[in-house]
Formats: sequence, C-alpha cells, structure tokens
Amino acid sequence: MSDILGDWKRTHYCGELRKEDIGKEVCIMGWVHRRRDHGGLIFIDLRDRTGIGQLALDPDRDPEAHAKAEAVRNEFVIAAIGKVSPRPEGTVNPKMATGEVEVEISEIRILNPAKTPPFMLDEFSEVAENLRLKYRYLDLRRVGIQQNLIMRHKVAQTVRNYLTENDFLEIETPMLTKSTPEGARDYLVPSRVNLGSFYALPQSPQIFKQLLMVSGFDRYFQIVRCFRDEDLRADRQPEFTQIDCELSFVDRDDIMSIMEGMIKKVFKKTIDAEITVPVPRMTYAEALERYGVDNPDLRFDMELINITELVKGCGFKVFASVAESGGLVKAINAKGCATFSRRELDDLTDFVAIYGAKGMAWVKIQEDGTWQSPIAKFFTEQELADIGAALDAQPGDLLLFGADTPAITNEALGRLRGHLGSKLELAAPNDYKFVWITDFPLLEWDAEARRHVAVHHPFTAPMDEDIPLLETEPGKVRAKAYDLVLNGSEIGGGSIRIHNQDVQSQMFRLLGIGEEEAREKFGFLLDALEFGAPPHGGIAFGLDRVMMILTGASSIRDVIAFPKTQKATCLMSEAPGAVDEKQLRELGIRLAASPQQKSS
Ligand code: AMO
Ligand code: AMP
Repeated sequence: MSDILGDWKRTHYCGELRKEDIGKEVCIMGWVHRRRDHGGLIFIDLRDRTGIGQLALDPDRDPEAHAKAEAVRNEFVIAAIGKVSPRPEGTVNPKMATGEVEVEISEIRILNPAKTPPFMLDEFSEVAENLRLKYRYLDLRRVGIQQNLIMRHKVAQTVRNYLTENDFLEIETPMLTKSTPEGARDYLVPSRVNLGSFYALPQSPQIFKQLLMVSGFDRYFQIVRCFRDEDLRADRQPEFTQIDCELSFVDRDDIMSIMEGMIKKVFKKTIDAEITVPVPRMTYAEALERYGVDNPDLRFDMELINITELVKGCGFKVFASVAESGGLVKAINAKGCATFSRRELDDLTDFVAIYGAKGMAWVKIQEDGTWQSPIAKFFTEQELADIGAALDAQPGDLLLFGADTPAITNEALGRLRGHLGSKLELAAPNDYKFVWITDFPLLEWDAEARRHVAVHHPFTAPMDEDIPLLETEPGKVRAKAYDLVLNGSEIGGGSIRIHNQDVQSQMFRLLGIGEEEAREKFGFLLDALEFGAPPHGGIAFGLDRVMMILTGASSIRDVIAFPKTQKATCLMSEAPGAVDEKQLRELGIRLAASPQQKSS
C-alpha cells in the first residue's frame, strides 16, 4: 500500500478552494460525497472535514480520468489532480463556500473503494440513532456532528490557553484509584496482582486535586474523564469529561470571577456570543422559592408564587390542610394558556405526577374575568381576588396549582415551569442566561439510609457562621458551594474545601462514616490535611453539557465522538462484553450469574 499515493502530495483541503485559487494546479483527497453524470460530463463532490469541493471530468479533455470517475461510487476514497477553474456561468452555487470554483481533473486515483453505507451521510436525512451509533465512524463523517467535535476541540484549546495564562498547571491524576464519592456508584476494576482487590475509576479527581494543593502546585487544571455508574438521562453519560480546577489561597469570589473569565472567552471564541460578567448570583433558597429548582432557566418568567398563607382556612380542603400542616401551596401563571384543552391539562397533570404531585388544580381566567375551574366553588370572592392578584391573573391566563410537602410542590411546579417553557417555546435558543447558585445546604437527609449525606461532596466546607449548627441542627448548615447554571442546565459546580483535619473528621462523623471507615477510605487525605494544607477550593465544569449548549444539541451523545446508550452500552464495539474464563480465573473471579442478554 505504501506507494498508492506515489509522489502525490495533497496541496489543499476540499473545502478550502476559492476564487483566488483559480489557475492553480492542485491535488486533493477525500471521500466521494456524490457523483453526478451530465451526459458525458461527470461531477464529483469530494468531501473532507473542511467541506466539499467540486471536481469536473470531461471525457474529451481527459478520457482516462473520466473512465476512472465512472467507476467511483459514494464514499470511495480518491485522490485527484487538476486545475482550479471558475464554474461556468449559471452554475455558481452561492450556498457553498467553494461554490464559485471547480477543479478540472486531469488525473484520478481510487485509493480505496467503499461498500454502500447503511444510511445517507448528508445532514438532511433522519437516521435512527441506533443505526448511527452502530456505524459511528460513518455517522461521524456527517457535517453536523463533525462540526460539533471540531468546536469541542476549540473549546478545549481555549480553556487550556486561558487557564495557562492564569497560572494553572495541567497535571494528570490516576484513573486506577480508590473511590472518590460524588454520589454515584463506582466502576470497579479488579486487580490481578492483588487478588480480591479492586480499583475504582474516578467519579472525579476531587481528592487528588486537593492533595496537589497540599503539595503546593497552587493552581491545577485537567480536562479529564470521569466515571459514574448512575441512571442515565439526556444530559448524562457514564463516562464524561470535566474541566476540573483547583486553586489555593483564594475565596469563593476569586474562583467565580476567574471562571467567569473562562466562560466568557469560550463563548466569544466559539459562537461569538458576548457574555456579561459578573454573572448574577442567587441563593439556593431564593432559587427554590422563585423557581422550585436549583437549576432555573432564567430565559423566561413564569415564577412560582407562594400562596400558602392565602389558602390557610380556605374552603378547598386539599389546600387548607396542606397549608396548615407545614406544606407548601404554590401556583404558576401560564400567560394566555386558557385555551389549553382538557387533554393538554391531563397531560400536564400526568407530568407533575412523575414528581410525586397528587394532583394539579387549574383555573382558566375567562374573558369576563371569572374563573372556570373545578375548584372555584370552594373559594370566597375575596379569596379568588387575592389569589388572582398574587398571580397577576388576566383574562386568557391559565393558573396551575400544587399543594404538597415543600419538596414535592417545588419540584413538581419547578419542572412544570420548565416543561411549559419548552412547550410554549418561551426560551430563545441563542439567549444565554447564566446564574451562580450559592449557599447550598451542606447536608441533606437520606430517608432510606436514615442518615445525612453531603449535598455536594464530603470535602465541601461549611459556612463559618454556621459551624456551631453542625452538632445541633446539621440540616440548617449552609455550604461554601456554588453551581453555575446556564439556561436551566447545571454546567459546573464547586466549593471551598475543608482544609482542617478536625473539621473534616467531624464532617465524616456527621455523614455516619465511622472513624475506622474514614481512615480506611480517606486516611491519606486526613493525614495530608495535617501536613500544612493551604486554604483551597475549586470547581468542575461538565464539558459535554457546555458543548450541548454551544452547539444546540438536544442529546449529549451528539457532542461525544463515541458515546454510550442510555443502557451504558456501545453499539459499535458492543462493550461491555463477556470475557474468557481464563481471564476471570486470573483475576480470581467467578460469576454468580451468567452474563445477561444485552439490550440497547
Ligand atoms: P459535580 O459532581 O457537580 O462536581 O460535577 C461537575 C459537573 O460535571 C457535570 N456532570 C456530568 N456530565 C455528564 N454526565 C454526567 N454523568 C455528569 N455528572 C456530572 C455537570 C456537573 O456540574 N469534584 C466536584 C467538583 C468540585 O467540587 O470541584 C464534582 O465532580 O455539569
Ligand atoms: P378533587 O377535589 O380531589 O377532585 O380535586 C380537585 C382539583 O384539585 C383537581 O383538579 C385535582 O387535580 C386538584 N388537586 C388535588 N390534589 C391536589 C394537590 N395536592 N395539589 C394541587 N392540586 C390538587
């Protein structure tokens, strides 16, 4: 194969040819995107990662090249030599970057034929995702997804440059390691030389980056793969990439402002969007009160209105009893949606039920201002007026209510708000609304495990003024943690860390991690904190999620070269797969069950 190219050297990419190149002798190589025969004349659209260039083959001018061109089919790999010429009058294609020129081919070489691909490789054909994933290397030839990955490279490059300019050092941390708790299950790797022992793939480099601060590296970053065995969603993958940062001798504001600079630069360089900094901040408590969730989409209003006080003692028993027993009654005003059908309202009721809501009372404000609603009859005129005023209800509006525990009411209505935002297309796709969510609670109660768990991770520092509450009311302690939310998506999260061994041990105790277990799991960290750990903190961004927003992709799989399905499988390589009996024996592993039939 070595001489198939012979002395041919590529001079241009297919998508690079321009008017200025007219008259040049060029050599281009790529994939046949399409071949068109125009009675004698053959045109080939030749494609590479830069785009498409048109080759013209005239049987009278170069019969030999023309004969070879007759044999090429879609996706053949060819090389061609010829002269760049203007396209004849009337055949200029202004939609293509190369649309003013074509290459008059004098010689052609077929470098490799190709079978007919299982789907069209243009950007217009709708192809079933399973088929795309099975032939991912072909899918990746398509323009849309190729552009996504090219932009991903640009983002990584911009991040590296920015962080380097800001004195960060890129340092690698181990993949074969011990568990770093981030709230998901670990992927385990058995050790052959230490039979019966397992490595865990990192859920994040959290502990290592803190140790790098103890070592004095001062500012660290890594664009790093993380592994989490958790239930997958549209914006989650079992292995995903973080832009992971850690800094010493800084406070929360320092970290936020350095990171805002990075985000600003990324958005400018990739999609030419101007992000205004500083990014606004909102406490976790305020986010929950106004939007019901800690990742609000601020591109539209429709805030949650708390009417608990208004409905105390009202005639609608569901609301009254919730209001009087420490629950929460809230409502949103879907402006102009009084036209929703019964069916649409039922769908919304089914939607909130996913989040535990037991019902969804609704009110349509009619043209004369009166209420059309199954619950109107339970309220006095005054109550109707007060609720209407609180929600700024106008004729044509649809009011939707939730009454439940604070957690269920907030989540159900918060998600409903997001759902209506998409349904009604209230959020412009190229509007970028960032917000820092701050002052998260440090701990939350896990009813199943009957103990507190860390909201962020066990290394996050409590607010200084809340430290006295650690022993008395741990649920009330706020953390020095922050998330960056963009258009309703949590794109990053971090915190100031505990740098004092006593506080870290206390934290483990609060989390129900006994002294022995803490030593066994995190002894090296506890030791390190006693050898001069500087105050430090950091953050990690989900690169894949950032890419989804920059590219407008609706699935995280569209910004990852070789992603996994919702079932964490790779349809192309068919990973995970069974292994040899011998391999298992060497690892000292015997399967309790035979491998399951895989599904996608
Ligand atoms: P956290 O767990 O919040 O923090 O993760 C940081 C960011 O990573 C992204 N992310 C994911 N993206 C795709 N698929 C997943 N399964 C997935 N899980 C998380 C999110 C998230 O905001 N060590 C801390 C960071 C720190 O404290 O510095 C951590 O990992 O965008
Ligand atoms: P009911 O009297 O139970 O038929 O309920 C009357 C209306 O109130 C229906 O539209 C229910 O969907 C709604 N509803 C019932 N329970 C709740 C609740 N917990 N929160 C909000 N609306 C509710």
